[in-house]
Amino acid sequence: IPLAGVIGHPIAHSKSPRLHKHWLRRYGIPGDYVPLDVAEANLEEVVRALPKAGFVGANVTIPHKVNALSLADQVSDRATLIGAVNTLTFLEDGRILADNTDGYGFMSNLRQNAPSWDPKSGPALVFGAGGAARAVISALSDAQVPEILLANRTRPKAEALRDEFGARVTVIDWVRASECLGEAALVVNTTSLGMEGASEFRVPLDGLQKDSVVTDLVYAPLRTTLLQCAEEVGCVTVDGLGMLLHQGVPAFERWFGQRPEVDEATRAAVL
Ligand code: ATR
Repeated sequence: IPLAGVIGHPIAHSKSPRLHKHWLRRYGIPGDYVPLDVAEANLEEVVRALPKAGFVGANVTIPHKVNALSLADQVSDRATLIGAVNTLTFLEDGRILADNTDGYGFMSNLRQNAPSWDPKSGPALVFGAGGAARAVISALSDAQVPEILLANRTRPKAEALRDEFGARVTVIDWVRASECLGEAALVVNTTSLGMEGASEFRVPLDGLQKDSVVTDLVYAPLRTTLLQCAEEVGCVTVDGLGMLLHQGVPAFERWFGQRPEVDEATRAAVL
């Protein structure tokens, strides 16, 4: 039977096994999906061995997302642009394909849960300039969002992203970001603020407009303080779990030949 898995270190917290096992069951596909705890030094050896052990592909997560780029024979344009990989596919001829479906997952989640949001309708305000922000910014650029206002605690990291992703990105000061809330059609938190065990997201939200869409990549807790505050203002809010579910869609389809649904049953399966 075809196998797939998720490679990370640590890996116990990953929700991907539940997601893919749910889809395998749902579509009656014989196969399995397993967590693989692999230290950085062993990544290449493990990846090269997987096809011989019956694996058709693997997701890649922290700390391997950048290193996996160099193991692939072919890297998709979006993975090249993002500079990181989340999906490997092992072809029968031995070649390894690398892709990054995080930006796709981000956008599909918004399309599904905030269908009224028109990417072209106005600027997006993005908090954070780490790996997750790279996927979000490349997806927003692709979707023709007119301007991306980018705020990061460490401003030079935001400036580096602007230099890389181009004219649509405007860097703003972290402490002045709330002044831009009024013009933002979309507000995105890509930082770890608000995550269980991390500090709270404390940017004042006074200027937030009720016709803005607000989304958080943090999904533990599901209703972050940011989303709760946005809801109180009357905004459409989209939680981060949907991005995780949607990023798995292209991978599952490629590996197992069935395009899977993301719906309430899918959410329930991973919670
Ligand atoms: P990921 O891959 O999830 O994006 P990352 O690359 O480590 O993870 O990026 C973490 C992001 O959260 C960064 O934008 C980081 O800001 P800095 O670049 O200033 O470090 C942001 N972040 C983490 N802790 C933060 C905090 N206490 N206040 C503000 N931003 C924080």
